[in-house]
Amino acid sequence: MDDVVETIGRFSITGIAQSQLWNARHWTFLSSLLESTPKMDIGREFSSPSPRVLKDPYAFYAQLRKMGPVIPITHPVLGKGYLLTRNEDVFSALKDPRLVNNRANAVEGAAGLLERWWIPGILRLLQKIMLMQDEPDHRRLRDLIHKAFTPRMLERLTPRIDELVDELLDKAAKKPVADLIDDFTLPLALNLISEMLGVPEHERLFFWRAQSRLVEGLASGNVSGLILAYPTAIRLARFFRRLIALRREQPGDDLTSALIRAEQAGDRFTEDELISMIFMLLLAGHDTSMNFIGNATLALLDHPAQLQKLHDHPELIDSAVEELLRYAGPVGHAAPRFAREDVEIQGYKIPKGSLVLMLFESANRDEAAFVDPDRLDITRTPNRHVALGYGIHYCVGAPLARYEGRSAFLKLVRRFPNMRLAVPRETLIWRKNLAMHGLKSLPLHLSPSSARS
Ligand code: HEM
Repeated sequence: MDDVVETIGRFSITGIAQSQLWNARHWTFLSSLLESTPKMDIGREFSSPSPRVLKDPYAFYAQLRKMGPVIPITHPVLGKGYLLTRNEDVFSALKDPRLVNNRANAVEGAAGLLERWWIPGILRLLQKIMLMQDEPDHRRLRDLIHKAFTPRMLERLTPRIDELVDELLDKAAKKPVADLIDDFTLPLALNLISEMLGVPEHERLFFWRAQSRLVEGLASGNVSGLILAYPTAIRLARFFRRLIALRREQPGDDLTSALIRAEQAGDRFTEDELISMIFMLLLAGHDTSMNFIGNATLALLDHPAQLQKLHDHPELIDSAVEELLRYAGPVGHAAPRFAREDVEIQGYKIPKGSLVLMLFESANRDEAAFVDPDRLDITRTPNRHVALGYGIHYCVGAPLARYEGRSAFLKLVRRFPNMRLAVPRETLIWRKNLAMHGLKSLPLHLSPSSARS
């Protein structure tokens, strides 16, 4: 019980108490918590997470699962909503057409989440990305991307991924202390997605810095943060227009040129949709992979026997990647969904218009779905994780993400079986974001023991 109190001591559960369908068993459990804990505010954790939750979100999610499958919250930005904590419910909700991604399809007359006057124009364009669309718009955009982002493109890319992994590890190995994020996962993920999209080399760092500043400004939720982000937003918009103009003039075999060809082939794809598609791919394609490889490497360091097993049995790589996605996947929760009619989940009534947040990291550690869920086991089977989503919004980049992970982990453990943390574990700093869970830096002694192979 002490554990429970410690972990959730700082959140308010007023919202939970108001649930009409809160049953007696849960209430008894929560009452016992209330007696011994200060106020809790679960909803706030999803916009400004506390350091304790950032450090160990899994302990927080374990407590949420104990509270129940459906938890009412008030999200400071998105309003009244419900968290889904269990694996089975998350999978079925991701297939439920009554839960939509575009808020305007759930609440008549409502603006999309990003269609607010104070949001910089470039971010308002993100409202058009397919992750924020429902059928039929989503299908139209997804078909276009499938035409451009083909298995052949990935096939062409795999030797380049292996080459880049080796080049970056060669450089990192020369440092007494390498930062796995700055020296490896960030340049790997950013360069790959940039090469895929045809972003010139000298623009890549600009894009990365600008998007970080912009996303931080927006996430800060305060007006001064947003005002400071405006000049960056303008520069970022110019960057996208430059990229599209360049690829219109000098088409290549990159994804941007392929999308432009798709745009030119018919009138089904507007210039704004093109910009938002490229923006989404650049964002989704580097942030996720970069955090995944960082989190997963730390997980292997935390489980030296599993690291050794992968070193001795590289043929286990495919199941290792799946287990690392389950155990250390970076996407904490799905993009917000909204109920377009009253929906009942596990006996809980979710009224029309409500926000629904599906907790992927909780679903991936659900004791009802996995034996010993907090144990990393690279031979785990079956392994029904939701780290790459499910249903119509299933990750477009899944084959690329898997291949990047495969190449990175194989080469890391083969070349540096004795790698170790260069700082005490408890001093590692996590990004202030529960939706995208990742490390700011991961200082390592790589101690090269073998040449590249
Ligand atoms: C380890 C790396 C990655 C992880 C963990 C990841 C995870 C996810 C998840 C969980 C979703 C579904 C979100 C939801 O339903 O709310 C998603 C969607 C998406 N991902 Fe990934 N992703 C990764 C890499 C990539 C890469 C490399 C790309 C691009 C090349 C990409 C592009 C996308 C796109 C475009 C969507 C939206 C699909 C749609 O709405 O139909 N992802 N990803």
